[in-house]
Amino acid sequence: MALISSLFHLCIFVLVAHFATPIVCHERPHQAALFVFGDSIFDPGNNNYINTTSSFQANYLPYGESFFKYPTGRASNGRLIPDFIAEYANLPLIPPYFQIGKKHFDHGVNFASAGSGCLAETARGFVIDLQTQLKYFQNVAQLLKKKVGKTVTKQILSNAVYIFSSGSNEVFAPLSANSTFPYSDTEYLQMIMGNLTTVFKGVYKVGGRKFVMLNLGPLGCVPSVMALNLQKGVTNGSCMDEVTNMAKMFNSALPRMLKHLEKQLPEFKYTIFNTFKVLAESIDNPTKFGFKISETACCGTGPFRGIFSCGGKRQVKEYELCKNVKDYLFFDSVHPTELAYQQLAKLLWNGTPAVVAPHNLKSFFDLST
Ligand SMILES: *[C@@H]1O[C@H](CO)[C@@H](O)[C@H](O)[C@H]1NC(C)=O
Ligand SMILES: *[C@@H]1O[C@H](CO)[C@@H](O)[C@H](O)[C@H]1NC(C)=O
Ligand SMILES: *[C@@H]1O[C@H](CO)[C@@H](O)[C@H](O)[C@H]1NC(C)=O
Ligand SMILES: *[C@@H]1O[C@H](CO)[C@@H](O)[C@H](O)[C@H]1NC(C)=O
Repeated sequence: MALISSLFHLCIFVLVAHFATPIVCHERPHQAALFVFGDSIFDPGNNNYINTTSSFQANYLPYGESFFKYPTGRASNGRLIPDFIAEYANLPLIPPYFQIGKKHFDHGVNFASAGSGCLAETARGFVIDLQTQLKYFQNVAQLLKKKVGKTVTKQILSNAVYIFSSGSNEVFAPLSANSTFPYSDTEYLQMIMGNLTTVFKGVYKVGGRKFVMLNLGPLGCVPSVMALNLQKGVTNGSCMDEVTNMAKMFNSALPRMLKHLEKQLPEFKYTIFNTFKVLAESIDNPTKFGFKISETACCGTGPFRGIFSCGGKRQVKEYELCKNVKDYLFFDSVHPTELAYQQLAKLLWNGTPAVVAPHNLKSFFDLST
């Protein structure tokens, strides 16, 4: 009986993997799908399809030049974390939502949109906010049901891994507002966590069970914020502490929120990647990680190449590009290089609990347990 039932499962899984092919039972473990949500850290080109500004786009050179050889919309010189995770999980590249058409969603979909945050008001009108990303995910779940039926859909969605990168743009938002920023830190954080909770619950309701969240990096130390600090007359080469502190507040609220969800929702599992720890160490000690330069970006202009002009399509048209991108932690004024993303992805995949806890992604993707 056990054998029959496990063979039956294998048949279903093969069916799912090759919708159009006749029923054949291979001895082949099913793979978990990967659904991706969030901001420019994960956006593979969704913003190429919406009305937005070049500030939230990277569909021009030199973006993409090191790997894809053309600008896909990814805000780096090459692949992003979800691209590497897909590779480690033996999945193909996970397509942007706007490219799936009616069929290319078997292995997952990427809904991420550069500039977006946890709040609908963050860059409203220029990005696909997280709530809308959830709606798009609900659409995909409907498409899946039509294709493979309710039972198999449920299985696919509960085996799948849901990965999120969101919150940095809320931390940056007060920088471009002026003294009129309307919220206290505590209020702001409560709204952010509240909205993130709503989205996690929404994905759970559709059938998601395995949630991965990147915490926020030391955002006061990205080249654009360092340059801003310099403009304000603060010491040359120092991070903006109030920005990093807001990221820290987010990072301490995050595990509390997720633990609470775990108590509320049966079978809900989560893991947190400590982006902060890993990036802070790379910034402080770049040579240990194989970089030469961690303060200055490869692409941009001004001090630290911190003016966000990479590609020359935004407000500022001039930009410099470094010769050897492999020496750099940051590609543009805000976003890491492909090499930095690869290091983060490796740790996310099979890092120790010091950087990814309580699960790493290798174990999240393992369906044999
Ligand atoms: C996008 O922007 C263009 C030009 O501003 C406008 O004509 C068009 O209607 C907009 N499309 C949507 C879907 O908002
Ligand atoms: C900054 O403040 C001025 C008035 O002091 C206001 O007109 C402007 O809209 C504010 N800018 C932002 C981005 O909030
Ligand atoms: C979500 O954010 C909005 C502001 O964008 C806020 O008014 C609302 O209360 C938040 N929701 C929750 C559940 O915290
Ligand atoms: C910081 O100071 C050093 C020397 O004190 C100078 O060479 C460098 O250009 C300065 N950096 C920026 C970004 O202004």
